[in-house]
Amino acid sequence: MSSVKRTILVTGGAGYIGSHAVLALLQAGYEVIILDNLVYGHRDLVEKVLQVELVVGDTSDRPLLDKLFQSYDIAAVMHFSAYAYVGESVTNPAKYYRNNVLGTLTLLEAMLEASVNKFVFSSTCATYGVPETIPIPENHPQDPINPYGATKLMVERILSDFGNAYDFKSVIFRYFNAAGADPSGKLGEDHNPETHLIPLVLQTALGKRKSISVFGTDYPTADGTCIRDYIHVTDLANAHVLGLEYLLTGGKSEVFNLGNGSGFSVKEVIEAAKSITGRDLKVVECDRRPGDPPALIGSSDKARKILNWQPQYSSIEPIINHAWQWHQQRHK
Ligand SMILES: NC(=O)c1ccc[n+]([C@@H]2O[C@H](COP(=O)([O-])OP(=O)(O)OC[C@H]3O[C@@H](n4cnc5c(N)ncnc54)[C@H](O)[C@@H]3O)[C@@H](O)[C@H]2O)c1
Repeated sequence: MSSVKRTILVTGGAGYIGSHAVLALLQAGYEVIILDNLVYGHRDLVEKVLQVELVVGDTSDRPLLDKLFQSYDIAAVMHFSAYAYVGESVTNPAKYYRNNVLGTLTLLEAMLEASVNKFVFSSTCATYGVPETIPIPENHPQDPINPYGATKLMVERILSDFGNAYDFKSVIFRYFNAAGADPSGKLGEDHNPETHLIPLVLQTALGKRKSISVFGTDYPTADGTCIRDYIHVTDLANAHVLGLEYLLTGGKSEVFNLGNGSGFSVKEVIEAAKSITGRDLKVVECDRRPGDPPALIGSSDKARKILNWQPQYSSIEPIINHAWQWHQQRHK
């Protein structure tokens, strides 16, 4: 883009996907300020790897947001910060509506006040609920089956209404299963608690867990286990830069799925991890979990077409391989 470095505020930039997006922004020549309350984020990764300004604070802190927007010439906001544990959202929905909806609304109001009108939002395939068609297109009905998905859908609705009422443009990305790690091995996934399959499998390979549980082996899939769409986090991060540049060059508000377009079963992921790590993994077969659809696969044709997004990693091997590099050095 232009030679003037533009400043992007990245909320949740100390977290998993946000930190990879910050790296992609830096590589594309942007200045970045991270706002993260560090409830789940990692200060060490920001300070040692990303080396950008970290403002430790919360999106619900309106005076802090006003100060940030006054102090910096912010061209756009990328909003990753949210709570994202589906199970916890069922048992403690208040926490999710407060952070994911109210926290986001506070941020959006501060943006309006400061005339910052470009917003890239992390939404999720969980807004679709149980799919009626596979691969899922963006115009598939949205009927979330848990409060987490509902909070993301509410923000999508807020963004649509803001776009109609104000001079405000957003790109909404509905991610499928973010996975993998930066190929350098310096950034990666470190959730605590961890609920995602690939890090759980790799923690088992490292001996941090005794076994890996497979929930349901009688689904109507080729090997009986659930199929999910795993998208490499570096491909996700690159899509965010494209989405940002789309907005900065006058693009209208849009919604895009970000997925691989092909799915991998739980057993396929475990087998690939065994082969990449060279370690045998103890697998425990358990009953199905309520609310797990047999297959979730997204169509990302729209992002490929409109944003010219070209994901580099379509197979499961590089995703697991990069994650393995990261896990080995993170847990040494
Ligand atoms: N990981 C996935 O597969 C996936 C899939 C779909 C959507 N998403 C969405 O992508 C986003 C990033 O997910 P992630 O896996 O990187 O999660 P993460 O927990 O690693 O990162 C979120 C970051 O936001 C911070 N945060 C949370 N609430 C905040 C607040 N109120 N103010 C400031 N900082 C706050 C946390 O400290 C954390 O660093 C989330 O919005 C999530 O819902 C993730």
